[in-house]
Amino acid sequence: MQTIKLYEGQSHEWIVFGRDPEKPEKIIDTNQYMIKTHHEAILLDPGGIELFSSMLSSVVHYLPVEQITHLFASHQDPDIISSLGLWDKTIGNATLHAPWLWEGFLRHYGCDSITYSAIPDEGSTLKFDGLEIDFIPAHYMHASGNFSVYDKEAKILFSGDIGAGLNDPEDPLFVEDFEAHISKIKTFHQRWMPSESAKNAWIKRARRLDIDMLCPQHGCIYKGKDVERFLDWLEALDVGTGLRI
Ligand SMILES: [Fe+2]
Ligand SMILES: [Fe+2]
Repeated sequence: MQTIKLYEGQSHEWIVFGRDPEKPEKIIDTNQYMIKTHHEAILLDPGGIELFSSMLSSVVHYLPVEQITHLFASHQDPDIISSLGLWDKTIGNATLHAPWLWEGFLRHYGCDSITYSAIPDEGSTLKFDGLEIDFIPAHYMHASGNFSVYDKEAKILFSGDIGAGLNDPEDPLFVEDFEAHISKIKTFHQRWMPSESAKNAWIKRARRLDIDMLCPQHGCIYKGKDVERFLDWLEALDVGTGLRI
């Protein structure tokens, strides 16, 4: 699994794990993120059951696994969090932050020991070990209960499936040529994003934030001017029920 440190600040760092060469061919490739403070860490969309062992061996390079005190699931999809039952057996004292709407569904993955902290529709702020991150509403982008995560110090927005691309395993982890990248993201947004009004509401929220890096759960990360390019492109794209198919 490729591992890149995206941000290193005084109090915390961001690490991405992705492009797992050992993943079975027919499952979608995913990016997992970890925000690590001095004594604790949170995993953002920790991934599917198939890559649990790759993830576990990757994160223990950075910290003892029991220092992962928080998990976050942007929504209920299996590629996001079907590993929950295995994390539950590994770090039972941790807390899972996930949409209230999906609690009764997510628990089917196995959540006996981990504490489920239900995020209300309007979002919330999580504080631990000197870190403060915001859960930003992203409902219907694409799941009906869905959140992005914003770190105002690092100026990073973790956007879940928004910005996601169907990339090849050998593709770089960052967008290098936005125009060329459109072919990887167009179908994904047209078909998995159901609503024009939800799209516009999320773009409005995102534009209020100061973002250096927009980090999706699939495909390539947007940096600098490519963040604005992506928001402009998404705004102009017809999605979901706005399409005639
Ligand atoms: Fe999804
Ligand atoms: Fe996804």
